[in-house]
Amino acid sequence: MSTLVVVGSQWGDEGKGKITDYMAQEADVVVRSQGGNNAGHTITFDGNKYALRSIPSGIFNPKIKNVMANGMVINPKQMLEELKGLEERGIKDYQLFISNRAHVVMPYHQELDGAYEQFKGDKKIGTTKRGIGPCYADKANRIGIRIGDLINPESFKLVLKDTLTIKNMELKMLGLEPFDFDKIYNEYVQYGQEIKKYVCDTSLLLEEEIEKGSKVLFEGAQGVMLCLDHGSYPYVTSSSPTGASVPLNAGVAPKYINNILGICKAYTTRVGEGPFPTELDGDLAHYIRERGHEYGTVTKRPRRVGYLDCVALNYARRISGINYLALMLFDVLSGLETLKICYAYEMDGKIINTVPATLEEYQNCKPLYIEMPGWEEDITNVTSFDELPLNAQNYIRKIEELTKTEIVLFSVGPDRKQTIKLKEFF
Ligand code: IMP
Repeated sequence: MSTLVVVGSQWGDEGKGKITDYMAQEADVVVRSQGGNNAGHTITFDGNKYALRSIPSGIFNPKIKNVMANGMVINPKQMLEELKGLEERGIKDYQLFISNRAHVVMPYHQELDGAYEQFKGDKKIGTTKRGIGPCYADKANRIGIRIGDLINPESFKLVLKDTLTIKNMELKMLGLEPFDFDKIYNEYVQYGQEIKKYVCDTSLLLEEEIEKGSKVLFEGAQGVMLCLDHGSYPYVTSSSPTGASVPLNAGVAPKYINNILGICKAYTTRVGEGPFPTELDGDLAHYIRERGHEYGTVTKRPRRVGYLDCVALNYARRISGINYLALMLFDVLSGLETLKICYAYEMDGKIINTVPATLEEYQNCKPLYIEMPGWEEDITNVTSFDELPLNAQNYIRKIEELTKTEIVLFSVGPDRKQTIKLKEFF
């Protein structure tokens, strides 16, 4: 039995797409279990760059079964466009399975996402405006539409009628235009028919695959610090990107989860609003942002940039049960004279080693740093740990020491080839 969960251990955008693609070379099944097209997983190989939103990263390999599981929220229109885009680029031979229990992101979700953000004014979350929060809210409120409904014209009609009555009242209350039932029904019923061939009970499929010994890779989206339960609430997404959420969101038993690989950048970034103790500004932030191409895959927003925060990383490790780390975008740090790593926070005169629960407390946290000498050398062609400059080796060792977790892989560039695996873990 071999399963591996890949989780983002910061605020998302850690390079999960690259690692999932890299690890997918060894996998039989790749599963997305939460989130939707708020994710943007960038994958580069053979000189081609692909940005996946809701499709799992195993899609490029015809032998891999790609699963979009029950915990996802799927925008069928966007997903079909994404598939079409891949097909136009020659990715035609793939295996895709969509859970009949996953929820459907409808156009009113997107409308409401934008409206809530606008009403919140300077307290806005900075969402991706893809309707993710309102869709998960409807799921919890039991007025959601599931893929199983969407593909059945009669069920879809019944569920949409009830839901749209409520959603239109909400839209009107907010001063927005209501949606026309026939228009929305006729458009979405069509999408349902187009995706029908991919839809099944993915929980059953996964059980069968795991039981027969297939290698299953669970591809996380976002990051632990954006977790609805454990992240920097309310500046979080609306699902749980932790290892613990995988069994629930994929419909597999917890006993099947062996290893959890935390993906972290060699520094920290965040998009959207919310606390970020190690945030940098000025020339240093600009240097890292430009070298790391730190602009959102989905929204193109410049990402906020900061030093590596090992308090947040340790928190993510503890909450998510991370037992290995992959260090990404390591090459970006070349050329910096000094590097800093945050090892603790100071909050109201006390030193703390964990992430506090409330926004007020977190905003009061000041980072405490250790300083380390940087390195000048370009490391983008390095192929082993020993080839790294000594200061870069020391940086890796220091992170391992601070997180008590082994770094099993590091990345020195966007290409698959620029990935150095230090140990087998899948
Ligand atoms: P939402 O998921 O669109 O509701 O956005 C909520 C918060 O999560 C915002 O701060 C977004 O910028 C952030 N977020 C959502 N998805 C991602 C992602 O894939 N990478 C990084 N941040 C994300």
